[in-house]
Amino acid sequence: MTLRSTLPGAETHAVRIVDSLNPADLDDVVARVELAGPDALVDATRRAAPAQRAWAAVPAPVRGRVVAAIGRLVEANAEALAALVTREVGKPLAEARGEVQEIVDTCDFFLGEGRRLYGQTVPSEMPDKQLFTFRMPVGTAVVITAGNFPVAVPSWYLVPALLTGNAVVWKPAEYAAACADALARIFVAGGLPEGLLTVVHADGAATSAGLAAALEEGLVGKVGFTGSTDVGRAIGALCGHHLQTPCLELGGKNPMVVTADADLDLAVEGALFGGFGTAGQRCTSLGTVLVQHAVHDEFVARFDAAVRRAPVGDPRADVVMGPLLAPRFAERFEEYLGWIAPHHRVLGSSATGRITAERPREGFVGDPATGLYYHPVILDGVRPDDEVFRTETFGPMVGVLGYDTLDEAIAWANAPGYGLSSSVYTTDPRTAFRFRTGIGAGMVSVNNSTSGAEAHLPFGGNGRSGNGSRQSGMWVLDQFTRWQSMNWDFSGKLQRAQMDVEIPSPEVGFRL
Ligand code: UN1
Repeated sequence: MTLRSTLPGAETHAVRIVDSLNPADLDDVVARVELAGPDALVDATRRAAPAQRAWAAVPAPVRGRVVAAIGRLVEANAEALAALVTREVGKPLAEARGEVQEIVDTCDFFLGEGRRLYGQTVPSEMPDKQLFTFRMPVGTAVVITAGNFPVAVPSWYLVPALLTGNAVVWKPAEYAAACADALARIFVAGGLPEGLLTVVHADGAATSAGLAAALEEGLVGKVGFTGSTDVGRAIGALCGHHLQTPCLELGGKNPMVVTADADLDLAVEGALFGGFGTAGQRCTSLGTVLVQHAVHDEFVARFDAAVRRAPVGDPRADVVMGPLLAPRFAERFEEYLGWIAPHHRVLGSSATGRITAERPREGFVGDPATGLYYHPVILDGVRPDDEVFRTETFGPMVGVLGYDTLDEAIAWANAPGYGLSSSVYTTDPRTAFRFRTGIGAGMVSVNNSTSGAEAHLPFGGNGRSGNGSRQSGMWVLDQFTRWQSMNWDFSGKLQRAQMDVEIPSPEVGFRL
């Protein structure tokens, strides 16, 4: 199957073909993908404009009905879509099913928003005058997504953007192209009029050149990007030049603080899922555990045992961890493994690096030779000046550091300068609230893992994790709409704001 961008005449933009491989079985080519040059993105945004204007004129509750139909179709196709997610990016099937459910949840939330999209009526300072606010669509959104959540995270952009009357040009990850194609086809089958959602397959260089040209032509109302901090920084700079604020959802070095009074088994369970679910390749994955000295040794012993026991292997089976997403992630993870230093105690498996016949993993499910399987790594004794402490290591690696006081733990939790997700395990409510107020992250879990946010709470980060934009729930509406204020004077005369306001004068000297 060769996948092509969905705009008319896409073949004229083709520059090369890449294969999207099953990372659990590298001989399985899931799709051949025809990548387009920069012009495809510009062309797609040009074509989107008239479709968007017509769509914006469709009543919002009717747009909501389309979102409802999309949600029902995702539900009806859930097993096929989850199986495709597992096949194309190696996510364990149970997680892939959860990912598909996240799309359904998003549609369920936004179908109702079609009947709200509230504006306000606001009192005027003058008689016979009324003030109002309206949410206006931004126009065309260019959405660029990663492949670690190949369908759920795109839906966080697509669903609210379309519901609020925008068109979307979507550039998915090349290594998740088949998932993108499947999701886009479901959107069309849900009744989305033609031209509103265009998928453009392109590499990073063509995407950034195309985006720059489309912004220059004034064809883009919003850029949404999920991916690395470095690329996010470049997109932020480009958008800033065009006076646009992108929606940026970037990396994380998400900390978990385990206090001496914590339920240690619960904390271990949370660290296992947060650190090694999705093979550590969520933006919300656990980066470093900060554990109070009094329970450090006990926590590390239990965490090590849990990770050693965790089934790794074929993502179609009941495993905690499957392969890495795609070859480029495996290559980068090899680099991160080079950051392991002599002062680190390496735990969690029988070896580090790729799982092979020579470096086997006990209890491996399936044949490790077929895919991009890596040993999970716990590094005890990381130090605040280690590269591995300061930088996101997208993959199955978790650092551990001992601390004395909560203030010290909070300072270290904030030190890498990201600010996406965070977690604290404690049985003392005062600690939970002190952590909440001290941590710079956009999301805080108490006695729960750093990953696994629900689809209707604000999702997003600060610092190196983003520019403060938030997705999901009612908060994302501010990304895809702009407020328009209206004042209507029906007094029949010019009433000048501030100048013609009649205010009764107080007796300023009055005292009881
Ligand atoms: C991501 O990795 O980009 O909170 C998103 C979570 C998921 C979403 C992760 N619901 O872990």
